[in-house]
Amino acid sequence: MASKRASKSLPATRHVVSINDLSDTDIETIFDTAKNYLKQLPDRHYSYRIGRSTDVASNHVLASLFYEPSTRTRLSFESAMIRLGGQIITSADPATSSAAKGESLADTVRVIANYADIMVIRHPRDGAARLAAEYSPIPVINGGDGSHEHPTQTLCDLFTLKQKNKRLKNLKVAISGDLKGSRTIHSFVYALARFGATIVPMPAKGMELPAHVDQRLREEFRCHMVTVPKDSGEDASIDALYVTPDEPHQQSLFSGPEIERDVGRDLGMLEKKVDALYVTRFQKERWADKDQEYPRIDRKFLNEPKYSDASVMHPLPRVGELDVAFDSDRRAVYFEQAAYGVPIRMALISLLLGLKNKSLHRFAGGFEPGKQIVYDQPRSLGLCCTNSNCIVHDPMEAQSVRNKFIIVQSSGTPRLRCVYCEREIERFVVASRKNKWYATDTASLLPTTDQGLKETVLFADEADAQAAGYHSRRAAADPRPAQRAGGAKP
Ligand code: NCD
Repeated sequence: MASKRASKSLPATRHVVSINDLSDTDIETIFDTAKNYLKQLPDRHYSYRIGRSTDVASNHVLASLFYEPSTRTRLSFESAMIRLGGQIITSADPATSSAAKGESLADTVRVIANYADIMVIRHPRDGAARLAAEYSPIPVINGGDGSHEHPTQTLCDLFTLKQKNKRLKNLKVAISGDLKGSRTIHSFVYALARFGATIVPMPAKGMELPAHVDQRLREEFRCHMVTVPKDSGEDASIDALYVTPDEPHQQSLFSGPEIERDVGRDLGMLEKKVDALYVTRFQKERWADKDQEYPRIDRKFLNEPKYSDASVMHPLPRVGELDVAFDSDRRAVYFEQAAYGVPIRMALISLLLGLKNKSLHRFAGGFEPGKQIVYDQPRSLGLCCTNSNCIVHDPMEAQSVRNKFIIVQSSGTPRLRCVYCEREIERFVVASRKNKWYATDTASLLPTTDQGLKETVLFADEADAQAAGYHSRRAAADPRPAQRAGGAKP
């Protein structure tokens, strides 16, 4: 997504907060650029490792702003910038930055933007990176925000699959572990769906994909669910696969024609061997109950014939869920996957900065998102995001955030998607600020233009609307119930 710079003469700044801020062409461009860097700056012994440096970024500074622990993401971003010939500044411990004094992220970002040309941010709150992007005149890259997204990890994941000669179309990728709390998985499944892979969810008990991610895969990315028959020999925890349409992907916020199902292809996907298994750790820091049952992947598990050709992936760190005895197996690709963090992030930094290098590709088109209708009211007014870990609920950001929702129309009944954390709200009431009425018929009363939305306030329910001094529209149109309520004689 792009944000406007303060001065009209400057181009819009491009940010990468979600994997969906990158078009399919952008992603291909990043991969081509990363491949070029691997070729131009090779390591003598390992084909996946950058072994030399260039000076294309010699006039540029990268700021890494990390409010949560990190090894791979921060150090590979910093290594990438140094390999490009640039400089880095780091704030990796919130206890030693002004955050400890209570400074808001919105203020910190505006300050850092004067010290650096690009920044990568990691934060425990969902949606923090989008807030940072709203306030930043320099490109912001999301290095992981709560359990929301981790788009650059997905770039490493997809690139690894490509380097292993796996075309994403028709690929079957199984995903194991904490599908609810892992931000790497959320970015990854969107990308897999966009590029035509089939996703096999293998969640730990109670750790299924969040409802909003599942709904988006089915509605916006047009995945359909193929039920796994009980006698199929599949793992008992797998109920259904997400099969992506066998046609060029068209992401849509609005409902479109039903895609005809190819039953033969669906059956083929059920029988097909797994091409990649993506293992993740239990995201302990995001769960109240820290002592839950969790699947462990070991050699015995991977000896099953359906995994005989599967690349075994992991964003790392691992903490026991993937047996180290498997490391020497030819299918283990996780350390290579981590190594690609450097060329991939070199590519992303140089493309976002528009570095001048003859052999470099360029981002085509831009990040301009399709037209979205956004409801935007002050934080103190009406409905607020229902995700308690969303950045809008961070007391330090109270003055910087607003109640902002994209109106999603994909299922016919409008839903609200928080601009920051992308969680969705299905039930709400619409109120007119001017007329002081509210109504529950959101499908017909929600304005469809930004202009109309200015006059609108949304509430969680009728009780909240009434508490704020609004009256039911029906009651306003027909005075009788109101009179009765006011004690008029029958
Ligand atoms: C992941 C993260 O931080 O989300 N790590 C990474 O960046 N490679 C995965 C994790 O912490 O489990």
